[in-house]
Formats: sequence, C-alpha cells, structure tokens
Amino acid sequence: MNFAEPSGFEIFLTRSVSILTCRNYRRYVESMKLSGSENVLEYGSGSGNMSVILAKELKDGTLTCLDISEKWLETVRKRLRKFRRVNYILGDLTELELPSGRFDVIVVHFVIHDISPTDRQARVQKLASLLKIGGRIYLKEPTRETHGISLTEVRRLLSDVGLKEIASTERKESPIGDVLHVVYEK
Ligand SMILES: C[S@@+](CC[C@H](N)C(=O)[O-])C[C@H]1O[C@@H](n2cnc3c(N)ncnc32)[C@H](O)[C@@H]1O
Repeated sequence: MNFAEPSGFEIFLTRSVSILTCRNYRRYVESMKLSGSENVLEYGSGSGNMSVILAKELKDGTLTCLDISEKWLETVRKRLRKFRRVNYILGDLTELELPSGRFDVIVVHFVIHDISPTDRQARVQKLASLLKIGGRIYLKEPTRETHGISLTEVRRLLSDVGLKEIASTERKESPIGDVLHVVYEK
C-alpha cells in the first residue's frame, strides 16, 4: 500500500484548520446519537479532531483509534492522554489481527478517498467483519473529482460486503466543499 507519513508542517496545519472545522465534527458525532456505552472504532483517526469528541461522549464505552501513521497516532495519543477508555492501534487494517464483531460503531471520516482504489475493498471488508450484528458504520468523504470518492463507489464498496444502507446524503460543508455522508448497518 502507498502511504507517506505527514510532515511536521502538515500536522501543524491540520491542527490549526481544526479551529474552523470543530463544529462540523461535533455535529457529526451528535448525529450518531450514541448512548455512551458503545465500543467505537475510529478508522484513520488522524490528528484526533473527532477522537476528542468521541472520547468525551463514551463515558462507559471504549474508543479505539486506529491509524496507519505512527506520527498521527502519536499526535492523537498525546491529545487524548487524559482519557482512560481509549485504545490505540497502529497499522494497516488488513494486516492486523483483530477480533470479529467487536464494535458497535465504526467511524470513517475522510479516510477511504486517501486509499488507492484497488486497496479500498479489502479494507472495507475488514471493517465490516469488525462490526457487531446490528452495528453501524458512519462514513463521510469528500466527493471532489480531483481528490475524493463518489457516492456510487461508496455504496458499491459497502453493499458488496453485505452492509445495508440506512441513510445517505451529499451536501456542501464549509470550508471543505462537497461531502457525502452515509450510514450503513450490519
Ligand atoms: C485526511 S486524514 C483524516 C483524519 C480524521 N479522520 C479526521 O477527519 O480528522 C486521513 C487519515 O487516515 C489515515 N489513513 C490513510 N490510509 C489509512 C489506512 N489504510 N489505514 C489506516 N489509516 C489510514 C491517515 O494516516 C490519516 O490519519
């Protein structure tokens, strides 16, 4: 798999831009209507903008932050150090040994479009295997033609692994542009 660690400048920029986008992250987590006792996997947790909000919500549950990047995982680990119920996993999903049916909710926020098209299906397949029966995947991605993924492809990826669509929308989101939101259930 092609993958490059972020530079120090990229980490700084992402953390700075998060001041503009934190409200979007909060709204997104609110839309999940978590009870607080779920086991949640955040796939591609990056700088931890979503992880911080999820960790606060999960009073009795657990949050697992998984990222292929050592630098991003280190960033999120530092940021969430005061939260006890958080696990950190470094690696590429398909090469990790993780128990099936472990998670109630999987959050995938701006990750799949960064994975090369030929590698996407195997990762989505593995995500589906980690979900409990009745568990949900919340996925949000940019749809720009230059750097994004189409709703058609996302639907194919998720339905091909046996997940059922609960909701899907495409909308403009400031300051990012066009994004798709989907919720799928196992
Ligand atoms: C654009 S960032 C999004 C970060 C975070 N989800 C957010 O929205 O703030 C994409 C993240 O996905 C991670 N990533 C990319 N490919 C991955 C893979 N195959 N497995 C796990 N993480 C991956 C990157 O390292 C990066 O942290």
